[in-house]
Amino acid sequence: MTKIAIFASGSGSNAQNIIEYFKASKNISISLIVTNNKNAFVIERAKKFGIPYIVLSNKDFKNSNYIESVLKEYDVNFIVLAGFLLKIPEAIVKMFTDKIINIHPALLPKYGGKGMYGMNVHEAVVNNKENESGITIHFVNEYYDEGQIIFQAKTQVLESDFPTDVASKIHELEHKHFPGQIEKIINSIKK
Ligand code: GRF
Repeated sequence: MTKIAIFASGSGSNAQNIIEYFKASKNISISLIVTNNKNAFVIERAKKFGIPYIVLSNKDFKNSNYIESVLKEYDVNFIVLAGFLLKIPEAIVKMFTDKIINIHPALLPKYGGKGMYGMNVHEAVVNNKENESGITIHFVNEYYDEGQIIFQAKTQVLESDFPTDVASKIHELEHKHFPGQIEKIINSIKK
């Protein structure tokens, strides 16, 4: 049984989408929601679906032994970052090599790296008059948005688009593709 921990810092719409997708799965379950933000709406979503959650302080995130003990307590063997804004300690990345994936709301390597999250990404895409954007699902290594790319999907950006328009197109792509890609990666590890 693959037991996933979803790390999220904000609304958690991707986390909810993933929870719903695997609800009836026989071999993949969501065993924990981890957040660094006690006001994150993802907590309400965890409560709604009866998924255990834990709020860790930024200090906690620097203590990889503590994170490791929490993940062990819930038998976590796969990590999904879905809108998580802190860097995962290197010791945890190494412990979960090729078992931590992240979704980024742009076509990496463009619009990645420090400060490139949420609306900052879509504003940069619009300001640079890009004619397309998209999502990138990638393995997480110690260099954050530079892990091996697993999947990308694109969407058109119109001249008339505002960053909020791009954001909703991106969210649509995320909700359409992320759970299936997670399942594909987990099942490919099994083989
Ligand atoms: C998504 O756009 C994702 O690409 C990015 O953070 C956002 C999370 O959105 N990493 P939500 O909290 O899942 O609604």
